[in-house]
Amino acid sequence: MSEFSMTGRVALVTGASRGLGLAMATSLAQAGALVVLNGRNKDALDKQVSALEQRGLKADRVVFDVADVAAGHAAIDAVVAKHGRLDVLIANAGTTVRAPIEDWKASDWDAIQGTNLRAPFLLAQRASIHMKKQQHGRIIFTTSITGIQGRATIHAYVSSKAGLAGLARSLSAELGEHGITVNSIAPGYFETELNAPLLADKTFVDRIAGRTAVRRWGKPAELGGTAVFLASDAGAYVTGQQIVVDGGLTTTL
Ligand SMILES: NC(=O)c1ccc[n+]([C@@H]2O[C@H](COP(=O)([O-])OP(=O)(O)OC[C@H]3O[C@@H](n4cnc5c(N)ncnc54)[C@H](OP(=O)(O)O)[C@@H]3O)[C@@H](O)[C@H]2O)c1
Repeated sequence: MSEFSMTGRVALVTGASRGLGLAMATSLAQAGALVVLNGRNKDALDKQVSALEQRGLKADRVVFDVADVAAGHAAIDAVVAKHGRLDVLIANAGTTVRAPIEDWKASDWDAIQGTNLRAPFLLAQRASIHMKKQQHGRIIFTTSITGIQGRATIHAYVSSKAGLAGLARSLSAELGEHGITVNSIAPGYFETELNAPLLADKTFVDRIAGRTAVRRWGKPAELGGTAVFLASDAGAYVTGQQIVVDGGLTTTL
């Protein structure tokens, strides 16, 4: 069997009804995993689960808001009860607010940190209980190149993503002895709904493409290979890392 095979593995991906989460879940399913999609909208999840099943892939859904700690913990326990194990957690759901510093409200700051940083920690905490029993697990956070290179107006987002990369390192240090790796994937600019306001600005779209080595924005499916690598046996000796997938944006002057 290929070291990239996910056959027999169960993966929970948060924020997987569209965009990067759905793309990573699809790649894991294509590699053989049973993927459990999460989001807040049941109809959207049902549609994507059906689409995956029609392709002969194994999929399920759990509906919850990641900011709701109790719901997240219950969902992880329910996945293990139903499918027998939890091998992979991709804590991917994330959100942003764009505003100049003087317009930022404390409530927006708290909401973004709650979804982008607090929730991944608390989900990882619960997942690690099950993964320790298995002596096997993969935890992956979706960070962002903006957590490496700052960007105006998205202050809570940038700080949450930089925090997540640090969290991957601290969790990796604690969980490695239990066969659990913890890494983050930092995407560059991808064509998703989150970026709709940016994609509507042709000048910005061209500026990003022009300073990216491969001269274009990323397509969500192009994140899948990195997710499979980190989630499979192929990535067993990689932990505490942040892998940048940005078409060379951060390495091009
Ligand atoms: N797109 C990019 O270029 C880019 C670059 C760097 C990093 N990222 C990161 O990649 C991740 C995914 O972004 P995306 O571009 O794929 O975004 P997206 O297209 O807006 O999709 C976000 C997904 O998360 C779900 N979601 C949002 N808030 C949630 C919550 N509180 N609880 C549960 N699910 C929630 C959404 O479904 P519902 O709304 O139905 O719940 C949806 O499935 C985010 O963490 C983002 O910061 C994206």
